[in-house]
Amino acid sequence: MKKYTLLTGATGFIGQYVLRRLLAKDVPVVCIARAKGDMTAADRVMELVKQFEAAEGRELPKPIVFTGDITQEMLGLDDNALDWFEANCKAVIHNAASIRFHAPDNDRTKDPYLSNVNGTQHMLDLCKFAEIEQVFHVSTAYITGLREGVCLETELDENQDFANDYQRSKFEAEQMTRGAEHIKSLTVIRPGIVVGDSRDGSTTAPDFGLYHYIQFTTQVMKMARSGGAEGTVKLNIRLPFVGTEPRNLITVDWVADAMTHIITTPELHGDTYHLTPSEATTSSRIVEAMGKYFDYEGIVCIGETIPEEERTEFEKLFFDYATQFEVFWGDEPTFDKTNTNAALADTIPQPPLDDECLRKIIRFAVEECFS
Ligand SMILES: NC(=O)c1ccc[n+]([C@@H]2O[C@H](COP(=O)([O-])OP(=O)(O)OC[C@H]3O[C@@H](n4cnc5c(N)ncnc54)[C@H](OP(=O)(O)O)[C@@H]3O)[C@@H](O)[C@H]2O)c1
Repeated sequence: MKKYTLLTGATGFIGQYVLRRLLAKDVPVVCIARAKGDMTAADRVMELVKQFEAAEGRELPKPIVFTGDITQEMLGLDDNALDWFEANCKAVIHNAASIRFHAPDNDRTKDPYLSNVNGTQHMLDLCKFAEIEQVFHVSTAYITGLREGVCLETELDENQDFANDYQRSKFEAEQMTRGAEHIKSLTVIRPGIVVGDSRDGSTTAPDFGLYHYIQFTTQVMKMARSGGAEGTVKLNIRLPFVGTEPRNLITVDWVADAMTHIITTPELHGDTYHLTPSEATTSSRIVEAMGKYFDYEGIVCIGETIPEEERTEFEKLFFDYATQFEVFWGDEPTFDKTNTNAALADTIPQPPLDDECLRKIIRFAVEECFS
């Protein structure tokens, strides 16, 4: 009887957390990973397993690792590997993706389309060949694109527009997976904006959303303190946000706990889950938390864009840096969580993204990523 579950993207930010939890629960896992530098795919995954074992203080079952690349047909697996999958693999957690926001020159042969659309097709082709009928597809809550208001877990194609190629490519990937007739059990997992671990703030992916603003503020504070200024720094930046804009931040440890629970609980299979916060973090709470950490004052949400000629020195820096993210400045949708709450509210409680947790996330990013 087939017993292995394939996890793609095990070396990534979320994948590492999920791999650790699956191994700790004795789930037989097979990974497809790429070689990097002088490390083979197996070296990379086994290095992670060593770290997990050190953290858990015990030996864990080892995953099987194949070298593969989702951008290649049949994930680049050779005939022997394909035979192995046919004989042993019963399910796929398709988590690998490119999180690049824009395809160069809108070229659909490049990332994010290459990995997210073609890569998903290649995963589905492997499933067909190897008679794998169960898929856990890691999508994103932001397949909603530029929709506003309440977005249901049961909705997908609502004629929405998208903020970028990443959102569009993930939408197409989910649509393609839903349309695959050979997949008999499809569970779709749609995380919100995933940030560092609630326990220590750690992340391996400080390169989007909140982290852009932490990086910007780190640099501005260095400039502001370069003359030796001590104590609270006055920055004078009037932000174009109203302050109430919701940001659907969710910590990576909870996302992985939730995913693992859904994957290992058969009664929860076949549905779609918005892994989004019970209560979104507002933009003004983020500004306040950053103010407390960096010890600044004078960054205020005014809800309008200051004209260029009226900008202070720090406002010029802010707009020069942040205008590229303008599409994300507005309101976010409200993500319906009917399935998620029914499945997880009692079993996998969300750690609150309170002041202390935000502080840990900011501290880790500043000290470990941007210093
Ligand atoms: N992070 C978020 O806030 C967020 C939010 C919603 C949804 N998601 C979804 O969650 C999933 C994981 O995201 P993440 O944040 O963990 O991303 P990540 O840190 O960039 O990890 C991506 C993973 O995919 C692998 N991968 C990429 N291209 C590949 C290829 N051609 N062949 C084989 N493996 C490939 C990477 O392998 P290498 O290590 O070799 O590069 C890595 O293991 C994605 O599906 C993403 O769309 C993420």
